[in-house]
Amino acid sequence: MPDLPEFIQYLYEEYRSLDSGSLASYIPELTKVNPNWFAISIITKEGEVFEVGDISENFTIQSISKVFVFGMALEDCGRQILLEKIGVEPTGDPFNSVIRLDENSKRPDNPMVNAGAIATAGLIKGSNPTDKLNRMLDMFRRYIGHDVYIDAPVFMSERATGHRNRALANLLLNFGIIDRNIEEILDLYFQQCSIVVNCHDLAVMAATLANRGINPINQDKAIEPCYVRDILSVMYTCGMYNYAGEWAYKVGIPAKSGVSGGIIAVIPDRAGIAVYSPLIDHRGNSIRGIKVFEALSEEFQLHLLDFPLEQCPFLDISHRDPIRRL
Ligand code: DON
Repeated sequence: MPDLPEFIQYLYEEYRSLDSGSLASYIPELTKVNPNWFAISIITKEGEVFEVGDISENFTIQSISKVFVFGMALEDCGRQILLEKIGVEPTGDPFNSVIRLDENSKRPDNPMVNAGAIATAGLIKGSNPTDKLNRMLDMFRRYIGHDVYIDAPVFMSERATGHRNRALANLLLNFGIIDRNIEEILDLYFQQCSIVVNCHDLAVMAATLANRGINPINQDKAIEPCYVRDILSVMYTCGMYNYAGEWAYKVGIPAKSGVSGGIIAVIPDRAGIAVYSPLIDHRGNSIRGIKVFEALSEEFQLHLLDFPLEQCPFLDISHRDPIRRL
């Protein structure tokens, strides 16, 4: 197996010239980034850091926030209420699809698509909108290890152009999944998407999930450990939208992407990985990000369902080591 620092440097050099894809433009403010930015960060559960590229460039977290707000809603309301309101089925549809919501059980398929994420935001507790937002920012602070803030222009841009999300919220109200405060719930959803992070922050967040909810850098508890399994299951099956099946097949680790170009992935009990590159494909996933994760998974045998190469799975699995070191 190659040396990890050398290998991520190699991946960075190999893929930095890959310039296919485009910046997310349906939220105009998201086009104001440098398309060449590219960073890889890996943080182990012991807090070891391996990084390369534009690690400190800021961007908004976008859909990656859905993972963490889902965890918060689980803590606020428990599994049963979450399952009554939001399913855990992958859709095979784009993240902003309206059709599935109308056709099916009137309950969003999962918390990673927009309909499910808006319903999840509607479950966050607090005495008023500011209280809810502050609780959410505090939750992100525990995962990241420093105070977080919202990119106001991105938030305003999301709010001004989020007609589809508004349509989803109206359908959710119609089905009794959220209450009447549509604009308040949408604001919280747009605010969570507009939280500012960098690639290092995302890797710390992923490493916190890998470490059963304990931030490996400062040992803060970000979430009750009993809910980490729920989060990772949904990431594994639904985190990459209509690419989730292919991702599970090829890469094989729980992950979540966002339209600003970040992807996080969690190797349970080992490490968190984040890649940032804002050029995305038609599904909203970072193109360089997918390449990097495919290569890492292959090279370090990270696929959770993989067997050690030297063994035949049908004959002897007694020495199987399901958690291999990076
Ligand atoms: O709802 C939206 O349009 C965005 N704020 C979040 C989208 C996103 O990141 C979807 N993912 N790939």
